[in-house]
Amino acid sequence: MTKVLITGGCGFIGTNLLRYILKEKPGWKVVNLDLLTYAGNLENTMDLAEAYPGRYTFVRGDITDPAAVERVFQAHEFDIVMNLAAESHVDRSILDSGVFVRTNVIGVQVLLDAAVKHKVKKFLQVSTDEVYGSLGSHGRFREDLPLAPNSPYSASKAAADLMVRAYIKTYGLDAVITRCSNNYGPYQFPEKLIPLMVVNAYHERELPVYGDGKNVRDWIHVEDHCRGIVLVAEQGCCGEVYNMGGDAEQENIQIVRSILAHLGRPDELIRYVKDRPGHDFRYAMDFSKIEAQLGWLPRVDFETGIRKTIDWYLENKPWWERILSGTYRDYYERMYGQR
Ligand code: NAD
Ligand code: TYD
Repeated sequence: MTKVLITGGCGFIGTNLLRYILKEKPGWKVVNLDLLTYAGNLENTMDLAEAYPGRYTFVRGDITDPAAVERVFQAHEFDIVMNLAAESHVDRSILDSGVFVRTNVIGVQVLLDAAVKHKVKKFLQVSTDEVYGSLGSHGRFREDLPLAPNSPYSASKAAADLMVRAYIKTYGLDAVITRCSNNYGPYQFPEKLIPLMVVNAYHERELPVYGDGKNVRDWIHVEDHCRGIVLVAEQGCCGEVYNMGGDAEQENIQIVRSILAHLGRPDELIRYVKDRPGHDFRYAMDFSKIEAQLGWLPRVDFETGIRKTIDWYLENKPWWERILSGTYRDYYERMYGQR
């Protein structure tokens, strides 16, 4: 059995990654280390221990706590570590950047120390296209571009990438970095653009569009991202960075309009609001490296993916209602409080 640590497994991408691995990699055993911050939802993963007996373990813990991390590493002797735990929302980082530095930088340093000490075979850091900064109307991000982050979130992710690089060079850790564009799909916390707009459109509330709505993001289905993460963990070369993208550039306003159309709601619900400070204009990914070296390409086309995603939120209304009411946070107490 390959023993894998996934941090942040109760978040959006982590949940999808756990499900992908448990289904597609029968020879892998997974431990999910998650602090259950506001973005961590234990409900997302509650079926996994029973569905995959002996292959899934949840541990509540903080990646910034060296003692807690050491206990988990000592107990499991991991072959692979995939770090997804992070503070991930740009707007929150603008309001309060301290926790972003703590989790996204110090947390990574603590995990890297443990990975070196316990001789982990592969450390995979899940990073983001946002470390490259912003593009104008042309061009795409390549892995050899300089890092030029513009938000406290992306700066903390860039700092983490540099820590990973330093541990490769200094301690000989076998580590790789994936940088991916905006993900969409099931289980995304409804503060991010797509689920937020679906929920507001559903309730016929205003849809807040920052600035003129013409900022561009490249959207990738979370399942394509998860397949790429696993591939890079298995076949990526030490010290390399691999970009992934969905080849699906969209202006924010296009996405908002298509959500309204899918729900049969009027465009009059759109409300242009004050722009995000330092709002990156455009992200686009050149993922020719991972295509050429590892044979990865995105498979989900955006039109199909977005339709299915909107339908998932409509079919799973109780899931986001429990988040909006805050009751999802009682889950831990109900499930583990008695122990
Ligand atoms: P998310 O906010 O949905 O989930 C983050 C998870 O990390 C939560 O379960 C939370 O409880 C956990 N966590 C936070 N602080 C922790 C700590 N100190 N210790 C342990 N667990 C902690 O995030 P996401 O969208 O799933 O993103 C996952 C990773 O992918 C992040 O590293 C993010 O930077 C990166 N990423 C995200 C996107 C995207 O579009 N969502 C794109 C590229 C890269
Ligand atoms: P978001 O989902 O926060 O991802 P990121 O900032 O990491 O790309 O936002 C995606 C885009 O949507 C971004 O350009 C900001 C914009 N946006 C809005 O216009 N309104 C909103 O309410 C939110 C949350 C985002």
